[in-house]
Amino acid sequence: MTKSLTLLGIESSCDDTAAAVVRGSKVLSSVVYGQTALHAVFGGVVPEIAARAHVEKIDHCIEEALRTANLSLTDLDGIAVTAGPGLIGGVLSGVMCAKGLVAATGLPLVGVNHLAGHALTPRLTDRIPYPYLMLLVSGGHCQFLIVEAHDVYSRIGGTIDDAPGEAFDKTARILGLPQPGGPSIEQIALGGDAKRFVLPRPLLNQPGCDMSFSGLKTAMLRARDSIVAEKSGLTGQDQADLSAGFQAAVTDILIEKTQRALQVYFKMQPAQPSFAVAGGVAANTAIRDGLMELCANNATAFIAPPLNLCTDNAAMIAYAGIERMMHGESDGLTLSARPRWPLDDRAAPMLGSGKKGAKA
Ligand code: KG4
Ligand code: ZN
Repeated sequence: MTKSLTLLGIESSCDDTAAAVVRGSKVLSSVVYGQTALHAVFGGVVPEIAARAHVEKIDHCIEEALRTANLSLTDLDGIAVTAGPGLIGGVLSGVMCAKGLVAATGLPLVGVNHLAGHALTPRLTDRIPYPYLMLLVSGGHCQFLIVEAHDVYSRIGGTIDDAPGEAFDKTARILGLPQPGGPSIEQIALGGDAKRFVLPRPLLNQPGCDMSFSGLKTAMLRARDSIVAEKSGLTGQDQADLSAGFQAAVTDILIEKTQRALQVYFKMQPAQPSFAVAGGVAANTAIRDGLMELCANNATAFIAPPLNLCTDNAAMIAYAGIERMMHGESDGLTLSARPRWPLDDRAAPMLGSGKKGAKA
């Protein structure tokens, strides 16, 4: 039996500074220092503030990850770092830190695509076989990927504008609900009537797996303004009904487009059809239940990794690094930080750019 590789992972591509130690498919530690409070007043991630915070926190984060795993640098087989895509200042902080550690220890350096980290997480948590269909759905990402191997991905659709999490956050702001918007909307929607407002489902009648959420956000703004004009304010029931209508629209879009993505995936005749979700929006019960039911109706396994491994973290980076190293791959000190780095460079570039940077 081959020895399981032990890697330190480093992630700093957006607004979370993270370090983790993974051995084989066991997460020995996973530390995440979030920056939400630093950016809250600006209504989005400020790249310069993010980069500075990463530089300040990254060493502490790595020390804590090693301490929790009860290991030192000499116990590692390599260092994996997010080399893109993302906010370039943040990516550079992680890559430079990893290069320093590699120069000092002589360990192999493995550059990881952040999206590959998300996309390979179901293998870390559930060891699912290739090929599988993946929906990445968060504040910065929204895409369908068929994952065929650790380095072979087909992007078969995605948002052409906002990511759904971004739409949840902006809608919450429009309705005067607290951030992050997803959990606030989900909570208040429980007491709402999803049918009171007629809201659009953009691109639903168009073929293919692409999605759009910005028109829905504009429709929410109009609906709110018309109520405010009528009664000079929103009641709690108005907030609940608008939230329920919005959540139902996002759910309908994601379910219908996933149905189509499954049809594309089935053409590959996978031996064990599997569908996995990742990203903060996958925490939404209505969306999750809808996807689960869809998979059950299509004889497809449904995998939703635990939320701490679905949202940005470094365990997924360490694990993707392990898959690369198991294939004999690593990078030298010339590894560069890439703001854009599509997983599937045959697919047409994505048009949108989320509040959390390039979607690649
Ligand atoms: O994956 P994540 O933590 O960070 C990135 O975007 O990279 O996702 C955060 C996003 C936020 O936009 C948040 O509003 C959304 O996920 N979110 C939710 C829920 N929980 C978090 N959206 C809908 N329903 C939820 N329960
Ligand atoms: Zn991410």
